[in-house]
Amino acid sequence: MENEKFTSELSSTFREYILLPRCTRRDQGIAQVDLSTRLTHDLKLNIPFMSAAMEAVTGDRLAIALAQHGGMAVIPAGNVPAQDQLDMIRAVKRFKAGFVEKVITVSDDMPIQKVIDLERQHGYSTFPVVDKKGRLVGLLTEKKYNPWQDAELLVKERMLPLDKLVVGRHGMSLGEANKLIFESGIGVLPVVDEKGMLRSVVFFSDIRRAHEFPAGVVDAQKRLRVAGAISTHPEDQERARNLVEAGADVLVVDASDGFSEYMQDTIKRLKKLGVPVVAGNVVDQAGFDYLVEQGADAIKVGIGSGSICTTRRVKAIGRGQATAVHQCALARDRHFQKTGKYVPVISDGGLESSGDMSVALALGADVLMMGKYFAGFEESPTTSFLKRLPVMFSGQLAEVEVTVKPYWGEASPRAKNVKRYQQDDPRSFVIEGEEGYVLYKGSLHKGLPRELMAIKGTLSSCGCSNLDSFYKEVQVERQTVESVREGGTSIFRA
Ligand code: IMP
Repeated sequence: MENEKFTSELSSTFREYILLPRCTRRDQGIAQVDLSTRLTHDLKLNIPFMSAAMEAVTGDRLAIALAQHGGMAVIPAGNVPAQDQLDMIRAVKRFKAGFVEKVITVSDDMPIQKVIDLERQHGYSTFPVVDKKGRLVGLLTEKKYNPWQDAELLVKERMLPLDKLVVGRHGMSLGEANKLIFESGIGVLPVVDEKGMLRSVVFFSDIRRAHEFPAGVVDAQKRLRVAGAISTHPEDQERARNLVEAGADVLVVDASDGFSEYMQDTIKRLKKLGVPVVAGNVVDQAGFDYLVEQGADAIKVGIGSGSICTTRRVKAIGRGQATAVHQCALARDRHFQKTGKYVPVISDGGLESSGDMSVALALGADVLMMGKYFAGFEESPTTSFLKRLPVMFSGQLAEVEVTVKPYWGEASPRAKNVKRYQQDDPRSFVIEGEEGYVLYKGSLHKGLPRELMAIKGTLSSCGCSNLDSFYKEVQVERQTVESVREGGTSIFRA
């Protein structure tokens, strides 16, 4: 009886494991390592990163930036109104590198002092001038006015009028815009449609940037790829249909515990819409097999591991994330051998460092879903601010001022996402998440390549040049608490 009560596994997490290096061959240098992976049997990602379907993490800006680097974002549902989620999916699909759609415009009867204020507030120095209907009538650049003398003048007295501007046509390619922007001589190209309405602006600096993302994941029409989250509630079916119509490449069923009959019904409903369906979250082989049987194309793994998660304290369910990922990876491999269909494992939650990410990949994760990691980037949907935090400095309590961004769980008092947690009423909602801050990390474009480089370094040290061989060949060793401590640092720091 006693033996049946306990499983033979011990719940363990990434930090308890260490990878053994092997000989690095010349063709396995960091530059040769390929981090591409599969999100579904047929859908490739160029990096194994996915952003969490959380309001504090993923919006259209983050989704665009992540897809440019080869990963995929999941635009959240939960408390996000259906129209807003749809608008974000559309913004990603519409995005054309170099063409900036959300620009701040001014009117020609506005005093220049107001433009100076806008410049200070947003840091921009060029403003398209539009009439009440949104038609382009001119362009004001900071070189055209003197802030000490012209503040009282009106925009129309200093702007470059439409007839003196080089203007692009909506729908043009970046190559065509590139040529025109040189002709303009001012490094800015407003783009209008056939009615003269301003549709976007191309900046010379962005054109240079647009060529920096050869690893971007795009669909057959060369649009960036993006996923949309959907709850298990039947009324979300309409939302799901609209997301697919708007171009969502993948639907991700967002539920804290996915081993359920609600999930079964949802997968069946969503599979009719013709895009891959990601389901979860589960933590063991039984849960994995159950969702695969319903037709899920990838499985999200992880309960209780998230950085803002109190599920294990509140409900005592879940599993150590390393054990959960490895057990589900074994189920995936068995299913693949039996049927020839590869159903990837997405490790969701609890990744704190590039070391954790490498261990997750070594244990069999195909994709890493992260919330906290992405929440601190400039591109996440929240606003950064300064916060004084207490620190111990030479044995004394001091305060430092740091830039932070807010981060909160979907089951925190702030979110109470009833749909994700299969609850009906916010008033009796069982809290399973916390609210706090993460350090602001600047732009994803600068930060993310560093993590990728670190992971590539791990593969290279382990004698592997791709994720498939890394999973199959790398030796993983459990470490003692003392060994984990030894892996930390032990000098006195200022
Ligand atoms: P992180 O990367 O460790 O921050 O974990 C992010 C993951 O935590 C998400 O993808 C969700 O699966 C999970 N999650 C989000 N909100 C909550 C919550 O309030 N409680 C528990 N888990 C959550």
